[in-house]
Amino acid sequence: MDTGSPMLSLEDLKVEFPISIGTVTAVNGVSLDLFQGEVMGLVGESGCGKSTLGLSIPRLLRPPGRIASGRILYRGRDIVRMGKRELLSLRGSKIAMIFQDPLTSLNPLYSIGHHFVETVRAHDGRVSRREALGRAASVLESLGIAAERLDEFPHQMSGGMRQRIMIGLALILSPDLLIADEPTTALDVIVEAQFLDLLDVLRKQYNLTIILITHNLGNVAQLADRITVMYGGTIAEVGPAQSIFDRPLHPYTQGLLASIPNIRLDEPKLKTMAGSPPDLVDPPAGCVFHPRCPQVMDTCRQDRPPLFARNGHKAACWLYR
Ligand SMILES: Nc1ncnc2c1ncn2[C@@H]1O[C@H](COP(=O)(O)OP(=O)(O)OP(=O)(O)O)[C@@H](O)[C@H]1O
Ligand code: SF4
Ligand SMILES: [Mg+2]
Repeated sequence: MDTGSPMLSLEDLKVEFPISIGTVTAVNGVSLDLFQGEVMGLVGESGCGKSTLGLSIPRLLRPPGRIASGRILYRGRDIVRMGKRELLSLRGSKIAMIFQDPLTSLNPLYSIGHHFVETVRAHDGRVSRREALGRAASVLESLGIAAERLDEFPHQMSGGMRQRIMIGLALILSPDLLIADEPTTALDVIVEAQFLDLLDVLRKQYNLTIILITHNLGNVAQLADRITVMYGGTIAEVGPAQSIFDRPLHPYTQGLLASIPNIRLDEPKLKTMAGSPPDLVDPPAGCVFHPRCPQVMDTCRQDRPPLFARNGHKAACWLYR
């Protein structure tokens, strides 16, 4: 991992969905750096803003979602202010995204080979069909899939195979950054483990930087170098993966880890965290976690904590002032 200047920097990013009853602030002032070659696990309970953050990076938010303020610097260029042409070229060749359910992204009417040809030619119309298929065959080979399967259709493939095809479609344009949003949720446990192993191999082979969005802390334990914990549209804590598991600072991270089986083997009993994530139309004042926090103090109800650095982590919590 290159820890020189960051490949991607989010600066005070705010993303909103204006809806009939108000405005959902799904990402609320997120600042984060990502370095070339690292795998960043993005975790947090449902509704905390993980997908919204992931989608906003290549500006794939659907209306009414919009980036209200902040910057997304990719190698120094601000994606938020990028023109359409530059954005399209960036999405094709530098930043790729894969989602939970490959079936919604693959067209049942077309062969797998056709999907690859379309992807390559949408980016560079000068590439012949034959050449695109040749490139597809070599990408498939790195995914452990025989080239003959390019003639098959999505419904002829298992869920794990389809997910590998989605990765292949993302990799064929040699991206730098892969954003994978819950890529294994639709897979069974064994296929999921194989898929994560594959991702680890590909990351080295293609020199990928990966943002892995997941509910499953086991997945990030296996793959991530660093972890970002999101809560209520904000970053609760960010730090090196192993250290987050061993010495979580933020009370939310502590609660999250204590409520997940097989992670903290030293915990005799699982505890569930009381309460649920906040309504992002009208989030709590001060620390957004304060209504659920076992260590809440008076300040927490009034002032929003910035990220404080401690033990190589950053935690948005007044306990570390
Ligand atoms: N299209 C939309 N319109 C209105 N609100 C939205 C929309 N998409 C997301 N939201 C809201 O934004 C907030 C963050 O949602 P998001 O999908 O980013 O969370 P998440 O962390 O990815 O959750 P999950 O783990 O369930 O996928 C939620 O309050 C959600 O209701
Ligand atoms: S700032 Fe206060 S309420 Fe928020 S996590 Fe820290 S102790 Fe708990
Ligand atoms: Mg999501």
